[in-house]
Amino acid sequence: MEILRFTTAGSVDDGKSTLIGRLLFDSKLIFEDQLEDIQNATVKRGEEGINLALLTDGLRAEREQNITIDVAYRYFATPKRKFIIADTPGHEQYTRNMVTGASTSDLAIILVDARKGILTQSKRHASISSLLQIPHIVVCINKMDLVDYSADRFDEIVDDFEIFAEKLEVDDITYIPISALKGDNIVNKSEKMPWYKGSTLLYHLENVNIISDKNLVDFRFPVQYVIRPHQDFRGFAGRIASGSVKKGERVRVLPSGLKSTIESIVTIDGELEEAKAGDSVVISITDNIDISRGDMIVREKNLPTVNNRQDAFLCWMNEAPLEKGKKYILRHTTKTVNVYVKEIVYRLNINELHREKTDELHLNDIGRVELETSQPLFFDPYINNRGTGSFILIDPATNVTLGAGMIKSAVAEIEDKLDIPRKKSPNTVWEGWNIARAVREKRNAHRAAVIWFTGLSGAGKTTIGRQLEQRLFAMGLQTTLLDGDQMRHGLCSDLGFTEYDRKENIRRISETARLMFEYGNIVICTFISPFANDRGFARTLIEPGRFFEVFINCNIETLKERDPKGLYEKALKGEIKNFTGISSPYEVPENPELIIDSTLTSPDLLVDIVMKKLVEAGIVKG
Ligand code: ADX
Repeated sequence: MEILRFTTAGSVDDGKSTLIGRLLFDSKLIFEDQLEDIQNATVKRGEEGINLALLTDGLRAEREQNITIDVAYRYFATPKRKFIIADTPGHEQYTRNMVTGASTSDLAIILVDARKGILTQSKRHASISSLLQIPHIVVCINKMDLVDYSADRFDEIVDDFEIFAEKLEVDDITYIPISALKGDNIVNKSEKMPWYKGSTLLYHLENVNIISDKNLVDFRFPVQYVIRPHQDFRGFAGRIASGSVKKGERVRVLPSGLKSTIESIVTIDGELEEAKAGDSVVISITDNIDISRGDMIVREKNLPTVNNRQDAFLCWMNEAPLEKGKKYILRHTTKTVNVYVKEIVYRLNINELHREKTDELHLNDIGRVELETSQPLFFDPYINNRGTGSFILIDPATNVTLGAGMIKSAVAEIEDKLDIPRKKSPNTVWEGWNIARAVREKRNAHRAAVIWFTGLSGAGKTTIGRQLEQRLFAMGLQTTLLDGDQMRHGLCSDLGFTEYDRKENIRRISETARLMFEYGNIVICTFISPFANDRGFARTLIEPGRFFEVFINCNIETLKERDPKGLYEKALKGEIKNFTGISSPYEVPENPELIIDSTLTSPDLLVDIVMKKLVEAGIVKG
């Protein structure tokens, strides 16, 4: 029978426990002795009738204090479906319980008190449900009996919630007007609200389509144990996280990437031809590949992301705040690795969905973080695959769970942030930088930068660039010089001066400049680079604030007179094709960081101006 997992969330007295009690009571799922217990307990509390909340408030502390203190799972079944309820408390400090309870849920019930309408709490629950990608939300507008079963009040609350829900990533939201206390629209249709044409809560829970929510496409089998009952058999035990697999199918083993074929799929009940998400199986493959716990078997041509840097949402669940740069343990599927939080990008204000800048995450905070793991993880974005997209962080000293996370993607390298499509060779994985630029900069005691000189041939790019480098070098700084004529003798010797070749020339130089920049250098580039787009590309590869486009202007007549290499003369005679400024265009920079003019000013004075700019920008010390 199909199982529906759902969470209930609501504020302390929204009537959550009563709702669940009512569900069980009206569907005749309460045993006689339980009923008697509740009756007795109700009397003891000096209340009348039967207090249905007492049925579900299983925990002693909760009975005494009237609040739910932890996630409590409850089970019930009707002839149509089995249900597992993760009952999570509503008050603010218990976000972590909600995350724990909701992470495997198919549906979330959000309880709203019809008298109070949508409160911060309700928004909070909806936001967390959305963040956790719970596919279905049911907003139960409770205590309708206390607002005279008013259709207007119901509509008003629905409208309010809809406005907020526009910011959420939930496709399916259902609104049901109920009274848990009186039993309206829980199991039985309310006679008091003939204006409501929708289904009762139980009917909805029994019929909402959850099969299409599951990831049945991407086969992911995280290996839990290697089983070797005898010499001739080696099997890999685990639970299929998503997708399905058949005997004879081609697979790949991660991290080795080696290929093989499924030989057998075995369960306690015997051999299977096919197994699917959620099944616990022992798989054997035809080749003798070294596999251990934490490895993953996937279909040959359907691979997860393999990366050691993850961009994720993290819910912090510990009293001690999350520390950037501290070593934690990360558990992802069956794999356990060391992890650092490299960056807290922002904290999510879960009530209003605002982003707040922060350096710490405190108990119950949810933040967007960048992680770096000691080994690559094999993951899918949480949005596609909740099993391989989630993880927990653990304290290495105490083994306590500190946080729960949802992976968005690998950390976007500049590669992914570029507007311009940037190719990569097939089947290659970006490994991240070996030694972070910040570390190199710290040792160098200055910042890295790219100073990009552009201008016509003979304007003085090379001369000024060389002098500038000599000065910086004499100051003890880490420098690199990339020059047009030089690069065209080696790296770019296959290129000429067509528009296409110049573009490719600048592309190679830009990539080289970027490498040198990331290695901590002040990189000086001296290229005509006549096209704005190509210079723009160079800029996109470099961190904002570190790229200095310096336009060296010069009167064209002066250039023709100077003509140090005799190229203008040849070009004018038509002996050189596509010569910039004569037979090929130069696009003057629109917004360069600096414009200098070499028509009348000597190179060393122009170098002074560039130096001043670098000091002002904090690249070098004055
Ligand atoms: S760019 O246009 O692709 O940026 P780059 O700076 O690498 O040019 O190379 C320019 C150098 O190539 C000039 O300094 C000049 O010595 C030489 N050169 C040869 N042919 C041409 C040409 N048609 N246009 C410009 N420069 C040329």
